[in-house]
Amino acid sequence: MAILTRGWIGFLSLAIIAFINLAKADEPAFFIFGDSTADVGTNNNLKECGARADHRYNGIDYPNSTPTGRFSNGYNSADLIVRQLGDFKISPPPFLSLLKRTRTFKRNILRGVNFASGGSGIFKETGRRRFVSLSLSDKGGPSVTLVEKNNVGKVVSLEKQIQQFATVCGNITEVLGPAEADHLISNSIYIISVGSNDIIEIPFGTATEKFINKIHFTYANHLKNLYKLGARKFGIISVPPIGCCPAVRVYNSSGGCVDPVNAIARAFYKAADALLQHFSSEFKGVKYSLANAYHMTMSIIDNPIANGFKDVKTACCGNGTVACKEGSNLCANRNDYLFWDWFHPTQAASELAALTLAFAEGPEFVKPVNFSQLARVVV
Ligand SMILES: *[C@@H]1O[C@H](CO)[C@@H](O)[C@H](O)[C@H]1NC(C)=O
Ligand SMILES: *[C@@H]1O[C@H](CO)[C@@H](O)[C@H](O)[C@H]1NC(C)=O
Ligand SMILES: *[C@@H]1O[C@H](CO)[C@@H](O)[C@H](O)[C@H]1NC(C)=O
Ligand SMILES: *[C@@H]1O[C@H](CO)[C@@H](O)[C@H](O)[C@H]1NC(C)=O
Repeated sequence: MAILTRGWIGFLSLAIIAFINLAKADEPAFFIFGDSTADVGTNNNLKECGARADHRYNGIDYPNSTPTGRFSNGYNSADLIVRQLGDFKISPPPFLSLLKRTRTFKRNILRGVNFASGGSGIFKETGRRRFVSLSLSDKGGPSVTLVEKNNVGKVVSLEKQIQQFATVCGNITEVLGPAEADHLISNSIYIISVGSNDIIEIPFGTATEKFINKIHFTYANHLKNLYKLGARKFGIISVPPIGCCPAVRVYNSSGGCVDPVNAIARAFYKAADALLQHFSSEFKGVKYSLANAYHMTMSIIDNPIANGFKDVKTACCGNGTVACKEGSNLCANRNDYLFWDWFHPTQAASELAALTLAFAEGPEFVKPVNFSQLARVVV
């Protein structure tokens, strides 16, 4: 029984580690950016951040009913997308949580990092203000009245998320050396889900066209910065019909969606489409998938039963005027609902979205290729 001496154990574990590394060499890593649709606990690390979900009833359907910081009853889109595309069960951990574990930091980042922060947006200033009320301006666009929060609501802006990624790139290079690091970084998938909060916070009276131009320009800069750091494969998720979420529906006395808000979400998609076509033709090696979250969500709202939902208007937890918290009303059949709370989808809805963008055929929901094809491209 002495065959397994220390030497043998050492050899075996080395062999096993080598095998695991080989097996994973083909699996892309995931770097995830954006807002609460993709946040898996970033904001738990921010003191006095208003946009936090690490409290009940969030996470009620997560293993052990744990509130993890996800704005969902269970998993969110970041988890469910990576689960479709690789051998991941959930999203990579938040950058700010990984930072706290210095001993394992360098090992953990090699499979990806999640930088997404609830409340953040494409603009640096998004997320520091509080959504107060919505009014329709006479210029035809919707506008919200804002109250500045004295830095209380600070979130991690997309710009800052990309700066954090730059640090991670340096750390990866330290671990793997330049050639292998380049390979890992260029073959990873960059999932970005952002834009809703910018729309929600449009300053009163801004013309839609001017706003969309500014979004286009700023988003393009973010993508270029990621490109400069070595990113090549982009999975972009556009803005859902936020005019239909419970928090915005309350501004329509007949309970319908608020179309002027949805019109901006549609304009956002068009701008993202044009932007990515241009970006991929201008910058060598760029591959992308653009998911049409507007159209995906609208097809559920228009055909709830066919998509397996019974309620596509009201929040399962809380309602259109109050956020989800312990003690607020909570629906029993969470899988029947499109909306988990006043702004966010249920796990069931995120799961359907993840399946759609991973496997849909044709340009209706995702173009020019679906996310599973994007994952397979070798750069
Ligand atoms: C990651 O890189 C940054 C910037 O170079 C450095 O300050 C930090 O110590 C690195 N982290 C680790 C765990 O090495
Ligand atoms: C309010 O909802 C109704 C449908 O119930 C719709 O016809 C109307 O256009 C909506 N109003 C706005 C401002 O979007
Ligand atoms: C939303 O919930 C709050 C708190 O439970 C309650 O006071 C309010 O009346 C509810 N609003 C609607 C429209 O049901
Ligand atoms: C989408 O993904 C599936 C599975 O990878 C693939 O078979 C299919 O051809 C793809 N469709 C399109 C149009 O990209």
